[in-house]
Amino acid sequence: MTRRQWLFKVVVRPGVAATGALLGAILLDVWLAAGRFTSLHWTEATSLDTLPEDAVLSLPAKRLALVRDRDRVAALSLECTHLGCLVNTVEEGFFCPCHGSEFGPRGEVHSGPAPRDLDWLPLRVHRERLWVQAGTRLAEPAWVSLPANAADAPQGNTQEGTR
Ligand code: FES
Repeated sequence: MTRRQWLFKVVVRPGVAATGALLGAILLDVWLAAGRFTSLHWTEATSLDTLPEDAVLSLPAKRLALVRDRDRVAALSLECTHLGCLVNTVEEGFFCPCHGSEFGPRGEVHSGPAPRDLDWLPLRVHRERLWVQAGTRLAEPAWVSLPANAADAPQGNTQEGTR
C-alpha cells in the first residue's frame, strides 16, 4: 500500500463520511423545525358567529377564505397556484389580480395561467372558534361540521380585512 492509498483510506474516506453524516443531521433538523413552525401550527381564523350562511367569508389578512355549505365549513387558501399572489373574492368565485387567473366558488381553476385549483387547508373547531393549519395544503376540502348554534348567521359574500 502506497502512502497516498493509506492517506485516502485513513483520512479522506472517514472525513467524507463524517461530513455527509453531519450535513444529513443538519438537514433533518431544519426539515423537522420547518414542519413544527408551518404544517403543525394551528392559527385562529375567526369565531363561529362571524360565519355567513351558505357563502364565502374572505379573510385576506389571513390569506384564506372560509367556505360554508349549510352545516359544514372548509378553509380555502387565497394564494394563487400560479405564483402565490393573493386572489380577490368576486361574484363568480376568485380572481387573481397579478396575471388574471380565474377560479370558481370552490377554488376550481377556470382560466390560467394558474396550473391548478386553489388549495384547501386543514380546519378544526375549538371553543367556538375556527382554527386553520396554514402550512399544510390539501387537494380536497376538509369539511368540518358546525355546531347547531352556528346556523343563525348573516347571508351573502362578506370580506373582512384588507391585503
Ligand atoms: S400569480 Fe395568480 S395568475 Fe399569476
